[in-house]
Amino acid sequence: MIIKSIKLQNFRSHELYSLKMGDKTTQILGENGWGKTSILEAIYIALTGKSFRAVDREIVRRGADFYRIELGLTDGEKVAVAYDLERQNRTFLVKCSKFGRLPKKYKYPVVLFLPDDLHLVSSSPASRRGYFDKFLAQLSPGFSSTLSRYNKALKQRNELLKEASVSPDSLFSWDVMLAKYGCEIRKARKELVQQLNKRLTEVYRGIAKNEDEISISYESYIDDVDESKYLKLLTLDFERDRALGHTNFGVHKDSFEFVFNKSVADGSASRGEVRSLVIALKFIEAEMLEKELGKKPLVLLDDVFSELDEARQEALVSNFKDNQIILTSVG
Ligand SMILES: Nc1ncnc2c1ncn2[C@@H]1O[C@H](COP(=O)(O)OP(=O)(O)OP(=O)(O)O)[C@@H](O)[C@H]1O
Ligand SMILES: [Mg+2]
Repeated sequence: MIIKSIKLQNFRSHELYSLKMGDKTTQILGENGWGKTSILEAIYIALTGKSFRAVDREIVRRGADFYRIELGLTDGEKVAVAYDLERQNRTFLVKCSKFGRLPKKYKYPVVLFLPDDLHLVSSSPASRRGYFDKFLAQLSPGFSSTLSRYNKALKQRNELLKEASVSPDSLFSWDVMLAKYGCEIRKARKELVQQLNKRLTEVYRGIAKNEDEISISYESYIDDVDESKYLKLLTLDFERDRALGHTNFGVHKDSFEFVFNKSVADGSASRGEVRSLVIALKFIEAEMLEKELGKKPLVLLDDVFSELDEARQEALVSNFKDNQIILTSVG
């Protein structure tokens, strides 16, 4: 167990909210729209440093000018997060010190299971990219900043591409950045998929009780391309990019697919198979996070329990028997 209590102020629909956690598992019940996911979101921000679904100004309760999260931890410490809407300024307060970003040593691994994750196999390539990128952000602290630098450079380059006077020279400094960060992103994604694939089939079989073979395929636009080749490919695409008004080459187009018995599982996998696969992914995420960060992850289950049959519910509970679990249900 890691969290003992939570207090929220002006956090989305919650003007004031407080809860003491159960010893191992805490269930949060509420009607649709009551604010259950928001409570998990607040915990996620305080432990990982970032929301999984929004930016701070959208989180502040409408009409208010700040939000505050306070977690009481089992070691007697507190973590507080305060956001000032007018100054657009977020502060983390841990062990009596203030930080603009949550320092790595105070981050705590979280395995988050959202209802949308159950559609991961057939959802859009962008949502699958987002899923694996969020996981990478927790695993390696530098990944988020690399990704946000890449996205900023991409945005600037795309804006320039819409200007009549655009030339390869005017794009060059952005191309250099895209090549640098793009190669880093690709390397991290590729290594992640290799790690996940080492365990996926075995863990999946334990849940699905069959002999299927499962893997993730990661198709990057820049397979075996180093920084200078990446840069060359970007410049070669200049005319096409100008005609279309955006950058067509790069890791923002990468795709992750799930492969069941050697064929891509888009619409073909059954609901049960997809659920087993997503649960297997969560188990491996927990293993990897624990190994990397040396702490037993907190497990947040948002409204997913009711979506699972008894066997899969049991698999979840028994696998996470030593983790603190906070789950929400409609009721
Ligand atoms: N900044 C905000 N200020 C006030 N209310 C907000 C804000 N952001 C979201 N809300 C409200 O919070 C509610 C959604 O909260 P949340 O997603 O946590 O609910 P939920 O209990 O998880 O719902 P569901 O069961 O449908 O998933 C909605 O009613 C939404 O209008
Ligand atoms: Mg919800």
